[in-house]
Amino acid sequence: MKKPVNPFITAGYYGVRYFCDRETETKSLLQNMTNGLSTTLIAIRRIGKTGLIRHVLAKLPAGYTSIYVDILPTENMNEFLNFLASAVINSIPQKTGPGKIIMDFIKSLRPVITYDPLTGIPQVTIDVRKGEAPKHIDSIFKHLEKYPKRIVIAIDEFQQILEYPEKNTDAWLRSSIQNLKNVTFIFSGSRQHLMDDLFSDPSRPFYRSTSLLNIGKIKSEIYASFIIRHFKNNDKKISREIVEEMLEWTDIHTYYVQLLCNKVFAVSGNHITSETWKEEAHKLLEEQELLFLKYRDLLTTHQWQLLKAIARGGQVYSPSSKDFVTENALGSPSTVLRSLDALLKKQMIYSDYDSDKKLFYKVYDLLLRRWLENQ
Ligand SMILES: Nc1ncnc2c1ncn2[C@@H]1O[C@H](COP(=O)(O)OP(=O)(O)OP(=O)(O)O)[C@@H](O)[C@H]1O
Ligand SMILES: [Mg+2]
Repeated sequence: MKKPVNPFITAGYYGVRYFCDRETETKSLLQNMTNGLSTTLIAIRRIGKTGLIRHVLAKLPAGYTSIYVDILPTENMNEFLNFLASAVINSIPQKTGPGKIIMDFIKSLRPVITYDPLTGIPQVTIDVRKGEAPKHIDSIFKHLEKYPKRIVIAIDEFQQILEYPEKNTDAWLRSSIQNLKNVTFIFSGSRQHLMDDLFSDPSRPFYRSTSLLNIGKIKSEIYASFIIRHFKNNDKKISREIVEEMLEWTDIHTYYVQLLCNKVFAVSGNHITSETWKEEAHKLLEEQELLFLKYRDLLTTHQWQLLKAIARGGQVYSPSSKDFVTENALGSPSTVLRSLDALLKKQMIYSDYDSDKKLFYKVYDLLLRRWLENQ
């Protein structure tokens, strides 16, 4: 694997060296995969689901082959078929044997194969007759079932299937995959309510069909050691206190930790001070300011006021309580509930349970939260 120019990765996966912790999650996913137990990962955005999947797939033992598909850009079953077929031909060697049989099948669907101009990775476009995509997806799974190596298929942004115009996609998919023995799945997604609907609602086909794995934040001490080690390896001195300040500011939210560390690493000489990171943090907020102002235009005044109040509260437990409403001059609890609902739907805020299983609300984008705090 190529060495990154900066040890703090903000996109992609560069191997274990640049990947912090997730040992328990990795172990449990690997155990599930090698025992044929399909697993669902649900977590908030930018916490490290995709990274974890990449990490686990890279660690699968010999005798396993993995196929990773991100279906976020797909809008219907035909596109799902295209993405799946592309992922298959990019993961399975097709010159001879069973790989060739799969390739011949895909070729029989008369695909147009194009090559990504940047990466050179082939992409398959198959134009099937209306309503026929499921049949072909099913055939691909059946071919993979006969493949001599065990197969793990990771479907990232799985909640996207709920946006397809075809009805009951989940019911169909569940029945298509439920008897597979050679193929195990990782379903991963971030729009929490949609993923919860798919997997935790007793009336839905995927209910209790997979093992569930929640991913939370990386432990502060472990992340701190990881950060210090990478600075030190590059002859840059950073104290634990400063790293702790950075972790506190980024709320240990993986993407933001990586982003801030990346910037600080890039600009710093061999000694990092509090001023170094604060300046970078300030620049990050400045870069986003126009976008944040646009959000303000897109929200109602009340929604914006509530968003600001939640940002200032950090982790807010009862936004419609009398105290919170009065303190932040938010009008009445019922308007707060309406705005809260709108902000959740727009994914400006998210809700989650703390370690005591108490429900709280938080601004989704850490940079927006920090910016709002200063308004
Ligand atoms: N354990 C880790 N150690 C170091 N960096 C990580 C780790 N996990 C994820 N990252 C990095 O953090 C960023 C966000 O992670 P990732 O894309 O995996 O999150 P995600 O939960 O899939 O987000 P989204 O919901 O937006 O798809 C990426 O740049 C990734 O490289
Ligand atoms: Mg992801």
